Amino acid sequence: MFIVTFEDKEIFPLKTEKPGATILETALKHDFPLYHLCGGNAKCTTCRVFITDGLNQLSDRNEREQTLADRKGWPSEIRLACQTEVFGDVSLRRIIKDNKDLKTVTSESKSAKTGEECYAVILFLDIKGFTAFTEASLPYDVVFVLNRFFQEMSEPVLNNGGEIDKFIGDGILAFFQIKNKDLISTTTEESLVIRKSETIRSAIRACLRMFDQLKKFNLEMKDRFNFSFDIRIGLHAGNVIYGDIGHSEYKSQTVLGDTVNVASRLEALNKKTNTQFLVSDEIYNQLKDSLAIDKKVVTRLRGKSEKMTAYSVLGFKNSDPILHIQKSFDLVLANNPHWIEDYTNKLKSFIQENSDGSNSQKGFTITSDEFLTVIESVIEKLGNPVSLKKEISKLADIYEGIGISKKEFPKLIPILISAIRENLPSEWDQNLESIWNQVATDLTIGTIES
Ligand code: FES
Repeated sequence: MFIVTFEDKEIFPLKTEKPGATILETALKHDFPLYHLCGGNAKCTTCRVFITDGLNQLSDRNEREQTLADRKGWPSEIRLACQTEVFGDVSLRRIIKDNKDLKTVTSESKSAKTGEECYAVILFLDIKGFTAFTEASLPYDVVFVLNRFFQEMSEPVLNNGGEIDKFIGDGILAFFQIKNKDLISTTTEESLVIRKSETIRSAIRACLRMFDQLKKFNLEMKDRFNFSFDIRIGLHAGNVIYGDIGHSEYKSQTVLGDTVNVASRLEALNKKTNTQFLVSDEIYNQLKDSLAIDKKVVTRLRGKSEKMTAYSVLGFKNSDPILHIQKSFDLVLANNPHWIEDYTNKLKSFIQENSDGSNSQKGFTITSDEFLTVIESVIEKLGNPVSLKKEISKLADIYEGIGISKKEFPKLIPILISAIRENLPSEWDQNLESIWNQVATDLTIGTIES
């Protein structure tokens, strides 16, 4: 048989029982202490050893070990004792020898999102009437429609900086969090209040956009399935616990705590109060001057001893610039489904008038649908600066691809605005013009400077 030599302050030569016995099996057979917290299942990595001699006498890494090694960037000398079979003499060192080593290793596998507490706005959404649709439809249609619904409803969350926690049956749990690192940088009480208000505003904008999306979704559903849906939303904000929760093989990031329960109960309360969008007093008090409400309900939520006030939200009192842009662009496309061709024609005229000859040769290689998708994406992502940046860069590439240089981008602002205005004759006013102008100018400056 072969000798596995553990090098420590002393040398421990241990004989393997058979060819292909693992390093861990050999150590355990001789009662040599080697951590193996997961019982040899390639999950804990506590059995890892450093091979000092005889690497070529060992089995290759199997898939499970390789996955861990790749994820952690291990050199070839670091092996999992529980997965590594011995076919010759080897020498090695334990990496984890005591509880301090163990603590270091186990904390290394924790994700940054394990067991944090943070302030978050929690959004619960449920479809009204989906059970009736399920009972009246084929399973394929149910799954198809539900997936389409989740897609449409999730976009406003993601486009406004939120995250989807999970899909629960026909409902959605989403959240908008103030990350702890952002809280640390908010040094004054005033800046914290501003931070919370901004996060709540983003969440409310996402909810209002969901109702817009629902209208478009229902037009299609009515046409295809002769069915339409309603949604109910509950929104609350407060401290939540945020972390990876679940079975070791099926963990997912989730939010927990009383704030989540209250949001869920507000969503359910909509049924009783015959409302669609209820927010808590925590939400309302942060934005009371900006929110238009149509109902105030004093209630005792299930499982609570104290009464609370819930508010049925209709929208923002003064138009939210981002929503205003999005809604007006919806109207443009509804008024003129061929808007993109009209806009493209305006761009072609601009290129011809401003070209030195070389640019006009480039032509449009992108289809109208692709061009429109990028423009829509820019408009939808106005509430999420990180995603917006990528879309803006795609749009800039398109313009440059058809022969419009970056320095000419400011000249496109009046062209875009005229293409919007022409399709909104009755809705267009000074306020809308100034919002479009401001947003288009900001994006153009940002693009040129990037
Ligand atoms: S005993 Fe856990 S990975 Fe080997």
